[in-house]
Amino acid sequence: MDLKFNTRAVHFQTDDGEKNKSKTKPIYQTSAFTFQDLDDMEEYFQGNKEHLYTRYSNPNTDDLGRGVANLEGTPAGLAASSGMSAILVGVLASVKPGEHMIVPMDLYGGTYQLFQQELQEWGILVSIVDFNDHEKIISEITDKTRLIYAEAVTNPLLRKEDTRALAAIAEQHQLKLMIDNTFPTPYFYRPYELGADLVVHSATKYIGGHSDVTAGVLAGDENLIAKAKKRLISIGANLSPFESWLACRGLKTLSIRMKQQGDNAAALADWFSQNSPVKAVYYPEDLSDKGNGAMVSIDLGEKYDVKAFFQSLGWIKIVPTLAGVETTVSYPLNTSHRTVPEEIRQSLGITAGTVRISVGIEDAGDIIDGFAEALKATKKLIKN
Ligand SMILES: Cc1ncc(COP(=O)(O)O)c(C=O)c1O
Repeated sequence: MDLKFNTRAVHFQTDDGEKNKSKTKPIYQTSAFTFQDLDDMEEYFQGNKEHLYTRYSNPNTDDLGRGVANLEGTPAGLAASSGMSAILVGVLASVKPGEHMIVPMDLYGGTYQLFQQELQEWGILVSIVDFNDHEKIISEITDKTRLIYAEAVTNPLLRKEDTRALAAIAEQHQLKLMIDNTFPTPYFYRPYELGADLVVHSATKYIGGHSDVTAGVLAGDENLIAKAKKRLISIGANLSPFESWLACRGLKTLSIRMKQQGDNAAALADWFSQNSPVKAVYYPEDLSDKGNGAMVSIDLGEKYDVKAFFQSLGWIKIVPTLAGVETTVSYPLNTSHRTVPEEIRQSLGITAGTVRISVGIEDAGDIIDGFAEALKATKKLIKN
């Protein structure tokens, strides 16, 4: 049967014939699996049994990879120990030392660091380009280029990437396209359907959704995921069974969380645009017919004291991450983009006034009141 998105988000775990028929899947908190005899073990190597050793695979870990792949519309998926390790094994499945990849300037700082420093030290060539200009991307392509990498919605200024256009460039030059879909999630945006070959998530964010797990997922074509899995096993970047189970539990409520958080974010972005004299409001446009995501960024400009603003937020906490059920704020300049060179930050428009807001599931009116109070208090502090 052709199940729709919200139903698939809930029904993705396999029934592995567990004797007690528990309603929720048990946590297979085990490092390995047992065998009756050597013939039984041989069955694993012949592909007739699923699990041998948890670093290779585990029922909970497999559930998470399958669940996200199912929502992204990809044939296969793979859970990893973090978003960073999912990115790493995805890149290593597509590019070898001596080969080349093209990436945008406005990347999450950790990804920027991985590409700009680590990968280059290991002999993978990386061009960092302004993705607003697709001619620049094309001009960087050489016979060594294998991959274009981008974020579906950029961090922190929330620019929507044109995945379809990047996929057309990739196809024309026989390159792979890998998209980080952490910010919009498959609820709002599905890059594979627009031509990407690999989709990656920091499942630490909306997939887990409750700020209690660090995890990553890579989704894509069978052959690329198989290659990535080989690397993940060798590196030992597997996710633990318990964290896989937690992320699966989070995934089941993805739809209702994203709906509420997306609606709240739209109301907040609207309020900032119409009622407050902040210098700029960043909120994506035309992401999907369900809404435009749950992140809002603002530039406080000159009228507010940034330090005072962060001190005046009351119940809204300062947290250097995003995507939990609580509304939180972060300061990209000293967290996510700390390692990004000053000149790149400036050219992107990330300033001393940039504040990134991860909008939660609370009542929209309370969230708006929280920011209205902080802005009011901050202005008063400047006057005094
Ligand atoms: C867009 C994006 N991609 C990847 C990552 C890395 O994920 P993790 O912290 O789970 O390794 C982050 C972390 O903040 C992120 O924001």
